[in-house]
Amino acid sequence: MTPKPAATEGALLHGGAGGGAPRHVAIIMDGNGRWAAKRGLPRVAGHRAGAEAVRKTLKAAVKNGVEVLTLYAFSSENWRRSEEEVSDLKGLLGYYLERELDELDREGVRLCLIGDHKAFGPQLVERLERAVEKTAHNDRLTLVVALNYGSRNEIASAARRLAAQVAAGELEPSDIDEARLGAELMTRDWPELDLLIRTSGEKRLSNFLLWQAAYAELTFTDTLWPDFDEAALRAALDEYAGRQRRFGGR
Ligand code: FPP
Repeated sequence: MTPKPAATEGALLHGGAGGGAPRHVAIIMDGNGRWAAKRGLPRVAGHRAGAEAVRKTLKAAVKNGVEVLTLYAFSSENWRRSEEEVSDLKGLLGYYLERELDELDREGVRLCLIGDHKAFGPQLVERLERAVEKTAHNDRLTLVVALNYGSRNEIASAARRLAAQVAAGELEPSDIDEARLGAELMTRDWPELDLLIRTSGEKRLSNFLLWQAAYAELTFTDTLWPDFDEAALRAALDEYAGRQRRFGGR
């Protein structure tokens, strides 16, 4: 595979500084549980409302010209939640796909996955892969859903593959640079990450797109994920447009 430009070069290619629209936006959707607790509801109700927010945000992203929207739906650490909650999240994902697939397709949305979704069991895996296949021809917006994803593991796997190539004599250690490693990541087919949004007031990356966020603008909102909507997305896009991206320069 031909390596893509190094992160910094890639970012400079599409810029976004001073008023541009971000091509690639990622969201850490946080606060479903607190949203439910505030209403005296079970956590699953928060996740259900979170799925509605995904629907609204996706429409808003299409409308606002975002090319790639990457959502952190299930981290590799989320397996530590109760069996019941994991099962609720899996069920919700399957239900969402069943209900929204035709609409996603009509809207020109291409669904892609990052992470190891195979861990979710044959039924959901089949549903996910069918949705990916059905929408593969779409090019209005790419929706990347991160499932059983962890960024450190993604980077370690990439390093392992490169090490195997070195061991096989196919690659020199000196050939390994940012571009070569970036080309091994699951996000290699999409433009550089421009904007990362985290909801619910937390200010952490939580093992999400660590490499890809190197030059991204970060925005944090106190809005809990289920309350996120077009106005909230617009606010983040406006904040992005108002920032000067320097990529380490002046
Ligand atoms: C974080 O809130 C949210 C999640 C771990 C799951 C995100 C899942 C969805 C929005 C539903 C389905 C997704 C798709 C793509 C249809 P939290 O539970 O950590 O909230 P808390 O910090 O308030 O407890």
